[in-house]
Amino acid sequence: MKAMKVNLEGKTVRSYEIHIGTEILDRMGMIIAMNRWAERYVLVTDENVGALHGERVQAALEKAGLQVDRIAVAPGEASKGVPTLLTLTDRLTALGADRQTALIALGGGVVGDLTGFAASIYLRGIPVIQLPTTLLAQVDSSIGGKTGVDTAAGKNLLGTFNQPKGVFIDIAFLRTLPDEMFRSGLAEVIKYGIIESPGLLDDLEGAVASGGLRETAFLERIIATACRIKKEIVELDEQDRGLRRILNFGHTVGHAVEAASGYALSHGESVAIGMVAAARLSERLHGLPAGDAARITALIRSVGLPDRIPAEMDLEDIISRLSLDKKKEGGTIHFVMIRKLGTPFVNGGIPEEILRDALKGLKP
Ligand SMILES: NC(=O)c1ccc[n+]([C@@H]2O[C@H](COP(=O)([O-])OP(=O)(O)OC[C@H]3O[C@@H](n4cnc5c(N)ncnc54)[C@H](O)[C@@H]3O)[C@@H](O)[C@H]2O)c1
Ligand SMILES: [Zn+2]
Repeated sequence: MKAMKVNLEGKTVRSYEIHIGTEILDRMGMIIAMNRWAERYVLVTDENVGALHGERVQAALEKAGLQVDRIAVAPGEASKGVPTLLTLTDRLTALGADRQTALIALGGGVVGDLTGFAASIYLRGIPVIQLPTTLLAQVDSSIGGKTGVDTAAGKNLLGTFNQPKGVFIDIAFLRTLPDEMFRSGLAEVIKYGIIESPGLLDDLEGAVASGGLRETAFLERIIATACRIKKEIVELDEQDRGLRRILNFGHTVGHAVEAASGYALSHGESVAIGMVAAARLSERLHGLPAGDAARITALIRSVGLPDRIPAEMDLEDIISRLSLDKKKEGGTIHFVMIRKLGTPFVNGGIPEEILRDALKGLKP
């Protein structure tokens, strides 16, 4: 098992460790028991993950001498809302959860965001530990302390910055993850390669060639690299005031495509399309070598993610959603571009005609 520390400046007490390994539940139990973050724990999960892994996780924690209750919410983004949040906090109250209680989020980004948010407001804040079970949660949402729930008006409109006490990434959880969800997480891993680590892209290309994308040693390696990149960015810009924006590579067009598809496209699929768009724009506007843009597109396609906007989707709908973003951000859309692989920067304004042209090029 590997560990890396997220160092949050000047506030030692908020720094925490990310533990990465395979079959690490017993070690995790011991580490949690040793740290005495709380006197009792509530494992929050969703019904899918609870059925697959809940008992095993609870047993490992109890074996370490911890008192553990378990709550499962319905799976899916619909649970990341205020009604489920209130059901969760009511159930915590019914269980007698007090300020000596900590929450453990066992699940994907939905459970992680919901539990992290609940922990930051329940009794004015109790500790949370992240135990991510999707590839996306393991490389992205469990690290960095952003929490959120959706409202009728939009995604993540309520949220806090609430760093966990620790993150435990057990690769073994990924064995039960459906391929489609796995690919969605791969999109974020590819993103880290593009913005920070061409070596990660080499590694991904090698695994595609050998058919080893789901092999344990490979996963441990790429997840560790992804976590290192994310935590270094978070250390420099915890509250998302600037640098953290580079993590949005592919996400500007991605979010617009995701919404325009009525969420028929997954987040990963949408970001994949957005990354191809960003690579093409980087090539056209900022001198990214054509070979690099083509390499990004080929990798995306080779892992089974889309590199084109579906034929039935309306380009003008996507563009109007991008303009909506523009209003939200005060007149400019922040596009993350790259000059070369590993060198991202934020371009504060791309003329609509160039954008339309680039998107047209992504139609089949
Ligand atoms: N806080 C952040 O910084 C941040 C970053 C990125 C994304 N997010 C949020 O993350 C959410 C998406 O997360 P997600 O993609 O993990 O989706 P998710 O949590 O909905 O999980 C996807 C599905 O996989 C199932 N599942 C989870 N782990 C499994 C496993 N090991 N085996 C089998 N099935 C499993 C879940 O039950 C669910 O049905 C979004 O709400 C997004 O806003 C947050
Ligand atoms: Zn994303």
